[in-house]
Amino acid sequence: MDLKEYLKEKQMMTEAALEKILPEEDLLPSNLHKAMRYSVFAGGKRIRPILMFAACEAVGGDVEKAVPAACAMELIHTYSLIHDDLPAMDDDDLRRGRPTNHKVFGEAMAILAGDALLTEAFILLSREINGVPPEISRRITHIIARCAGSMGMVGGQVVDMESEGKSIDLPTLEFIHTRKTGAMILASVQTGALLGGGGEDEFEAVSRFGEAAGLAFQIADDILDIVGDQELLGKDIGSDQARGKATYPALIGLKESRIRARQLRDLAIEALMPLGERAEQLRRIASYIVDRSF
Ligand code: IPE
Ligand code: IPE
Ligand code: MG
Ligand code: MG
Ligand code: MG
Repeated sequence: MDLKEYLKEKQMMTEAALEKILPEEDLLPSNLHKAMRYSVFAGGKRIRPILMFAACEAVGGDVEKAVPAACAMELIHTYSLIHDDLPAMDDDDLRRGRPTNHKVFGEAMAILAGDALLTEAFILLSREINGVPPEISRRITHIIARCAGSMGMVGGQVVDMESEGKSIDLPTLEFIHTRKTGAMILASVQTGALLGGGGEDEFEAVSRFGEAAGLAFQIADDILDIVGDQELLGKDIGSDQARGKATYPALIGLKESRIRARQLRDLAIEALMPLGERAEQLRRIASYIVDRSF
């Protein structure tokens, strides 16, 4: 299967599962459930679930077992986007090709929809999964919580915010990117490897992949904020520069940023060496992350 087909298949798998999981719009409080569904079903790439599935396959696992955790990851990610766009944060008007959540439902509802999506994720993670030992479930819940919290995504968002309009050094920028975006990508592949029954060596290989791919993903995101097509991207471009954000292109320039992203891609692919053929889709995704146009 080529990558395009693979992405499509796994995207559809994720959409179908999310559709079943999220409370219906007419369930009370209806406006909250509408707001949650509005952002979840606005057409994201679902790259975190896809990475989880690909990591699961890379260790010879059955992707069905990863479906609840993949959805949990996408719900946490969607919450982070809703909050990231709030006036108190990046203050953006466009997301996934639609007006941002707070533009449609108001700020209070957007905050609460985000809170509810985050919570829903842990409801999913608390469920028993057929054939998954409880100690694995406990471990992935810990990994995901840690990567989403103050040591991961939220922590990165804080330093991102505190660095607006300031000149920071490269290690600080790397700190921001590996946390605000890298952590969730790392957690996705680690979870995939664990749910796929991977051993510690495989977990290590996939982790090194995730660290490199996660940073590369945010460098590509920074680049796209400058050279991307707003229509295709589905979000406002130029907003990083307008807010004085700490980004790779701002600090080391576009050309160097591209070089760095490709180096990280190579590093990610190299890390998969011990996994052999089964990691083929994961390798292709590493290239896609760097070369994508949205
Ligand atoms: C955007 O993530 C925010 C970052 C963490 C860089 P994605 O580029 O994965 O956004 P969607 O999910 O496809 O909308
Ligand atoms: C967002 O980084 C990271 C998150 C945790 C959501 P950005 O602020 O660069 O993401 P976009 O460009 O708005 O999607
Ligand atoms: Mg941001
Ligand atoms: Mg933003
Ligand atoms: Mg961005």
